[in-house]
Amino acid sequence: MDSILVTGNGPLNGQIPIAGAKNACLTLMPATLLSEEPLTLTNAPRLSDIKTMTALLQSLGAEVSSLQDGQVIAMSSHNLTSQTADYDIVRKMRASNLVLGPLLARFGQAVVSLPGGCAIGARPMDLHVEGLEALGAEIELKDGYLHAGAPGGLKGAVHEMRFASVGATENIVMAATLAKGTTVLKNAAREPEIVDLVECLRKMGAQISGEGSSTIEIQGVDRLHGATHQVVTDRIELGTYMLAPAICGGEVELLGGRMSLVESFAAKLDAAGVSVTETQNGLKVARKNGRVQAVDVVTEPFPGFPTDLQAQMMALMCTAEGTSVLEERIFENRFMHAPELVRMGANIEVHGGTATVTGVEALKGAPVMATDLRASVSLILAGLAAEGETTVSRVYHLDRGYEHVVRKLEGVGAKIERIKGE
Ligand code: EPZ
Repeated sequence: MDSILVTGNGPLNGQIPIAGAKNACLTLMPATLLSEEPLTLTNAPRLSDIKTMTALLQSLGAEVSSLQDGQVIAMSSHNLTSQTADYDIVRKMRASNLVLGPLLARFGQAVVSLPGGCAIGARPMDLHVEGLEALGAEIELKDGYLHAGAPGGLKGAVHEMRFASVGATENIVMAATLAKGTTVLKNAAREPEIVDLVECLRKMGAQISGEGSSTIEIQGVDRLHGATHQVVTDRIELGTYMLAPAICGGEVELLGGRMSLVESFAAKLDAAGVSVTETQNGLKVARKNGRVQAVDVVTEPFPGFPTDLQAQMMALMCTAEGTSVLEERIFENRFMHAPELVRMGANIEVHGGTATVTGVEALKGAPVMATDLRASVSLILAGLAAEGETTVSRVYHLDRGYEHVVRKLEGVGAKIERIKGE
């Protein structure tokens, strides 16, 4: 397994290009199952999760080709051969469950393995099931698989979700595009990736309104046609690299960044003493003066502070002046980066869903282990600011969500290299 060696090397300066959003691409790709005509995605990120979704769609009989070094994904599900998403793929990536809604809508049946838990939590699918059953689907759990059927087709309905689940919103919206009649989805998630999905579905002929708000209305249509869609910028990669100059000093411009994608996050950085300004090409980030100040964080559904930036923010708070309380309200076990940061000299106390971080002058480089996607990059950020060398192991977690990390950080002056493992 490869590892990444980072050596604290002072302020960072220059530009980092931000890729298309992993979490938008992972819901845009299953949308191809809704139509017999080709769907092409541009600005796609080059990530292992995208390869996993490609393999899943191909296992269903879809044609998926990766063009232009992976930045274009051309898909066609003209003649599918299966409606079963196998455990061996789904267990690797929870987002595989996003084929459920489209398969049900197009074929009236789907067999999708439950994803099983993952490092950050149990991650059940009850909200997906409740929403699809509201549209008339019959779903039964057997041998770890959800067996879903809608022999007479799905019917529009009014449904209020108990929690604004991102994935459940995506599955229900995609299913509703081909249901008979109107669906009103209440307490829908508002993430930019959902707005991006709806914009793509609309290009395919779907009749949808309200995306980005808590109530999304979908008028079912008989069929959807093909389209070409550019994947929205990745707000989590953007937020992650905004923290690089914040934790190291210097000034970095994030190309393709937009304030509207990271408003609550940027507000937190501003309160901590980090300026974020929009430029012609993206967002420019630099410390306002001297040491960063501790701020409190509570993770919430969009437009609140993103849970996917909690680990990275914790790394910044480890060297801030004062004490920061970070409350993780979305996942039940998303502080596994804390003990690794403590190995680097951080002062962190975790009690249940709350972590209390008392900033230290400087972290010390140490060998640490990545435990999940966002924890891995939090350790790299800490290593960039630490004195000495930090080796982050198990970087396969990183490859799931961050393309060309070494190249992007080297480009702004970081001392970082990837060490080939056995
Ligand atoms: C999406 O996951 C993202 N993944 C996650 O990003 C992100 O952390 C999460 O949304 C929250 O923003 C993709 O988009 C591929 P949820 P998802 O359904 O859809 C519980 C990353 O790092 N829940 O909003 O799975 C669930 O257990 C990943 O890129 C139920 O209880 O998130 C969790 O505690 C990590 N029942 C909470 O809701 C359900 O049926 C949020 O889950 C569904 C979810």
